[in-house]
Amino acid sequence: MLWWQSGVVYQIYPRSFADSNGDGVGDLQGIISRLDYLSETLGVDAIWLSPHYPSPQDDFGYDVADYVDVDPMYGDLADFDLLVKEAHARNLRVIVDYVICHSSDRHPWFIESASNRDNPKRDWYIWRPEKADGSLPNNWLSIFVGKAWTKHPTTGEYYLHSFLASQPDLNWRNPELERAMFDVLRFWLDRGVDGFRIDVARRAVKDAYLRDNPEALVIDPTTHKFDPIWSAQEHIHDDRQTDMHVIYGKFRALLDSYQERYSVGEIHEWDWDSWASWYGEGDELHMPFNFALLAAGTDAIKIRNIITGMEGAIPEGAWPNWVAGNHDEPRMATRLGGLAEARAMAVLLLTLRGTPTLYYGDEVGMTELPILIGEERDPAGLRKPGWGRDGCRSPMQWDPAGGFSSATTPWLPTNSNTATVNVESQLGDPASTLELYRALLALRRLTPALNSGGIVLEPPDKAVLAYKRVAPDGDKVSVAVNLSSGEHPQPFTGTVLVSTSPALIGEPAPKVLAPWEAVVIGN
Ligand code: GLC
Repeated sequence: MLWWQSGVVYQIYPRSFADSNGDGVGDLQGIISRLDYLSETLGVDAIWLSPHYPSPQDDFGYDVADYVDVDPMYGDLADFDLLVKEAHARNLRVIVDYVICHSSDRHPWFIESASNRDNPKRDWYIWRPEKADGSLPNNWLSIFVGKAWTKHPTTGEYYLHSFLASQPDLNWRNPELERAMFDVLRFWLDRGVDGFRIDVARRAVKDAYLRDNPEALVIDPTTHKFDPIWSAQEHIHDDRQTDMHVIYGKFRALLDSYQERYSVGEIHEWDWDSWASWYGEGDELHMPFNFALLAAGTDAIKIRNIITGMEGAIPEGAWPNWVAGNHDEPRMATRLGGLAEARAMAVLLLTLRGTPTLYYGDEVGMTELPILIGEERDPAGLRKPGWGRDGCRSPMQWDPAGGFSSATTPWLPTNSNTATVNVESQLGDPASTLELYRALLALRRLTPALNSGGIVLEPPDKAVLAYKRVAPDGDKVSVAVNLSSGEHPQPFTGTVLVSTSPALIGEPAPKVLAPWEAVVIGN
């Protein structure tokens, strides 16, 4: 098993994790100061940093103005090198974000490209004149509301942007752009990073003829809730182009020319075969993120179907993964309805077959920061009130006073529940969520059945999701999670190793599970 298969990844949103210089925004030195917490106290195996690159921060770093540097707000390349060195000294891997689809309009590449129609970098972005009737080049839409085309005053042509107008889309059909973006990968690989999380991984390549998207025949309910206008199109020309697989073939070959490097793509696919296609034949992405749990709530039957659907589609030899929160989604303790629900989900996340990616702060049960309309910082929320993602990006809660920053006004306020929802208060309290995560992570690390074994599901049950994890040497661990607010029978025997109810640990497995109770059982 490789580290990215048996290990656990922890996502850090650098703006919000730890502020070492008191300017109200997190930074790399702050992260370095918390590496002991991550590797020893908590016990994760890798960190993924949301973008640390120089950026005007229109989309908080997902608008990159220089792919090969560090935003001065976060530090510099020397700090980055130190972070990698210190992380590696603790056996922690470092994964960085790779924003493949678009740059910032303040990236020198775009400034050159926009400067005149004959500029050598003109074709590094996607430019088109208006149509003869004065209309836009095609009917594509921005995911952040409105049209995907903006007219640039210097040359009078339109450029394409799948998100904000200040995030122009790169043209991956241009071989020089491709080379430059692959050089970016080499730059970070040579600095010792262990892998990449690829942003908007499916959309970097567009239809070569930029054809209009047709109207959607069926409106997909999972995207419809996002934006009905956007969902009314069938996104067959601005998304999922087969040429994207060709890029990932080359991308994988580059990563494989280094040792044990890893890639995970932001791929929102709800059809399991489409999802599985991003593994290629072991020659594309190491993993497409599996976001299905984000949409499943706490429905035991739905989650079981997700497991069987995924297990049925994943190519032979490929390794699964699970996600229950990230910087784009409401915090799990809020989304699922409460802390008891989130704790049950934590047991699933850390005991299902596959690599879990944890989101910073979920290990202490951080909840959504309530944001008033008018106080939003996220561009999505600013463009469409109520849509903002600030709620899940609030400062990490280290101690009862917050502990993120010495600034009086950090970039987002610390949630008022930090008095109890924080690392310092929970450490050593067996009933705390932090101790539940620590126990699960420690057990997982020591137990081949959990970190690399197979999975055998019990028959479907409306309330209790139950399965065995089985190591190649036959060693077994059983897991039963009550995803309901009633009491329900628990099918396994043995001794409880970890539980949401600390009093059960070391005892014979209970015959009945209390509401939202979960047990991990050894034989
Ligand atoms: C991805 C990121 C999100 C960002 C968007 C545009 O979906 O996860 O935070 O806003 O890409 O770059």
